[in-house]
Amino acid sequence: MRVLAIESSCDESAAAVLDTTAGLMAHELYSQVELHRAYGGVVPELASRDHVRRLLPLVKAALARAGTRPADLSGIAYTAGPGLIGALLTGASLAASLAYAWTLPAIGVHHLEGHLLAPLLEKDPPPFPHVALLVSGGHTQLIEVAAIGSYHLLGETRDDAAGEAFDKSAKLLGLPYPGGPQLADIARHGTPGACTLPRPMLDRPGLEFSFSGLKTAVLHAVRAAPLAEQRRADIARGVEEAIADTLTAKAVRALEYTGLDVLVVSGGVSANRTLRERLDAAVRAHGARAYYPRLEFCTDNAAMIAVAGLARLEAGQRGGLAIEARAQWPLASLPQLAA
Ligand code: KG4
Ligand code: ZN
Repeated sequence: MRVLAIESSCDESAAAVLDTTAGLMAHELYSQVELHRAYGGVVPELASRDHVRRLLPLVKAALARAGTRPADLSGIAYTAGPGLIGALLTGASLAASLAYAWTLPAIGVHHLEGHLLAPLLEKDPPPFPHVALLVSGGHTQLIEVAAIGSYHLLGETRDDAAGEAFDKSAKLLGLPYPGGPQLADIARHGTPGACTLPRPMLDRPGLEFSFSGLKTAVLHAVRAAPLAEQRRADIARGVEEAIADTLTAKAVRALEYTGLDVLVVSGGVSANRTLRERLDAAVRAHGARAYYPRLEFCTDNAAMIAVAGLARLEAGQRGGLAIEARAQWPLASLPQLAA
């Protein structure tokens, strides 16, 4: 089977072609970061309008790069949620229109299932069952993954997501949007231990997270002394270490709790180097192994949507021509794949 995939849930427009035997044949991406920078965050209406401009050329480019004609395709996968409703609608309507014009099945994909399955694109993919740590701008979840389509939520954040904690701390440090990667950049020059920030909920049992207190602590640290370059780097390092340590401790706890020895880490924050180093060390000490997507597939992309879409098409699932878009969509409500 060969699938064309379209992603438009937030501020990345993307298209990809994935084939059961040939693997990933093409993936194209346009990031709207510059468009939103002046506003310090994603402006939903601007995002939708830009997706309308970008998506069709990206689809054409992906098909051309993959040397694929519509007749070679078995279906079209698109992100149906969760995400910004207007942005989702642009990709969903394009996918449904192409499916109608080319008489192909269309399938609406859950964005987080895409993130969870992104490491399957690597040469050495993670085995099932495993524990997944999903850390993106909107979500921080630990999930027990028995198989593709079988997701059991072990714990999640009670307030801010890890990516949000990075972005809000970055804003307090005066860094431009999107703050996470920028904060990680300056944290490299920070002195370890110079600024110690709280590791929320580490002292409590369970697999829940809470990151909203971190930004208050960052605000106090920012106000405590003039924000010279070194001080800024020290605080950035403190933020990165607090988030990495919290995620690492809870991920290991989830491995202990489930008795599993494979951890999959995905979502935008899984691109963070300090997090990867700490997770690798802790997971190895536990006798387990961690798997990640390649860096470009940590953040939003269409290749991961293609993986999830292809798995569901192969399992016989089909969407109709209805344009599916859901701003909110619990992962646990996804239909299971037949064994
Ligand atoms: O998965 P993603 O692209 O979008 C969502 O589905 O939310 O994740 C974006 C998030 C943002 O909060 C961004 O700041 C964060 O991932 N991020 C990082 C890094 N790269 C992206 N945070 C820390 N370090 C990074 N290197
Ligand atoms: Zn995402």
